[in-house]
Amino acid sequence: MGSSLAQKNILLGISGGIAAYKAAYLTRIFKVEGADVWVCMTEAGTKFITPLTMETLSEREVLLRTFPENRTVGTRHITVAEWADAVVIAPATADILARMAGGIADDLLTTLLISTVAPVFVAPAMNTRMYNHPATRENMAILRDRGVRFIDPGVGDLACNTIGVGRMAEPRQIASVLQQYFSTAGQLKSRKIIVTAGPTQEPIDPVRYLGNRSSGKMGYRLAQAAADRGAAVVLISGPSAEPEPAGVEIVRVKTAAEMKAAVDEQFDGADAVVMAAAVADYRPTKPADRKIKKKTTTLQIDLEPTDDILRGLGSRKKSQVLVGFALETEKVVEQAQRKLKEKNLDLIVANDPGLPGAGFGSETNIATIIDREGQTEETGKLSKRALAEMIIDRIVALLPPRQGSSGA
Ligand code: CTP
Repeated sequence: MGSSLAQKNILLGISGGIAAYKAAYLTRIFKVEGADVWVCMTEAGTKFITPLTMETLSEREVLLRTFPENRTVGTRHITVAEWADAVVIAPATADILARMAGGIADDLLTTLLISTVAPVFVAPAMNTRMYNHPATRENMAILRDRGVRFIDPGVGDLACNTIGVGRMAEPRQIASVLQQYFSTAGQLKSRKIIVTAGPTQEPIDPVRYLGNRSSGKMGYRLAQAAADRGAAVVLISGPSAEPEPAGVEIVRVKTAAEMKAAVDEQFDGADAVVMAAAVADYRPTKPADRKIKKKTTTLQIDLEPTDDILRGLGSRKKSQVLVGFALETEKVVEQAQRKLKEKNLDLIVANDPGLPGAGFGSETNIATIIDREGQTEETGKLSKRALAEMIIDRIVALLPPRQGSSGA
């Protein structure tokens, strides 16, 4: 099978950071994979790596100035912006993120960025303090909101002799994000996927609630992965501090009952539902109207069961693919298999939050994916985004063909 990068047009933007030297390797990888690479450098970028290096590797004239002296036609930025199938900014400095967020077009690269409709991938690289500065954080949130895809920096030795977050993702990793994008883009076009995420909060009184430790990360990664493949995604989220994924409709809820109402409302037109939320099994029977005052005696709160959302969907499903999660601390696979059968699911993703590298708040997970035939697949430790891609791959394989079409 050929590379998904073959014959793709990649506009590679290089801004002024020391990681610019890695853009040379990245260009090499893109070229070896068969992509056509057109490099555009900011003036600061040219201080870190020469245009000659990039021109030699890309086999194309490097784009440098908005108003080149020897040009008579003034709309080159439009031609290049339309040529690109994807734009990659590597490295992306705090400065270029700020200019992108502000819609500023004061050099050729930022002018191209505001002219293109191609997907934009950015690989930030900077000192940890610059990365964590509220201005950079806000700029990244704005860009994510607009659909810019971040290839997050890693933690490690930085060129400024410190150790921290800010080290640009490795060229191989950047290339594989692009490969993934091109091999799956459009796969879920005209499909509607519901994803639930996060904890629920069940009120005890006006200031207190019963909750759980779910961060929402897994569901948010799933929503993004499905949206990146072209699905219309509705993310029904309990309280979570995760940034909102780009291109996803988000419905915010607090309680299990609100989550159930939102899921039920969306279910009929859906092709698949992934219940990654940690839904409360019990809620206080009668939440107090006023704050419960402190006493010296023990306090009893009566709890009643909530409805099982997934079980409800399982009993009314037609052709929808249903995916559940099972958090288990013992007999993980056995318990998950039982839940898959009882709730009439197509897949269940079992995990033990007690394992190092799995569970609440962690960036990684370790799971076992189980299907209706009882086939189990151990994922090993991987990022939540990578696990999301695996789950979406399985959903794609399970979706019945669209009526009037020959494939998923
Ligand atoms: N789930 C649900 N509604 C609930 C509880 C759970 O839809 N009220 C879903 C979860 O989102 C998850 C799956 O059911 O996808 C399994 O949840 P889990 O808490 O592991 O299992 P339970 O059925 O609640 O059983 P137990 O808590 O006894 O393990």
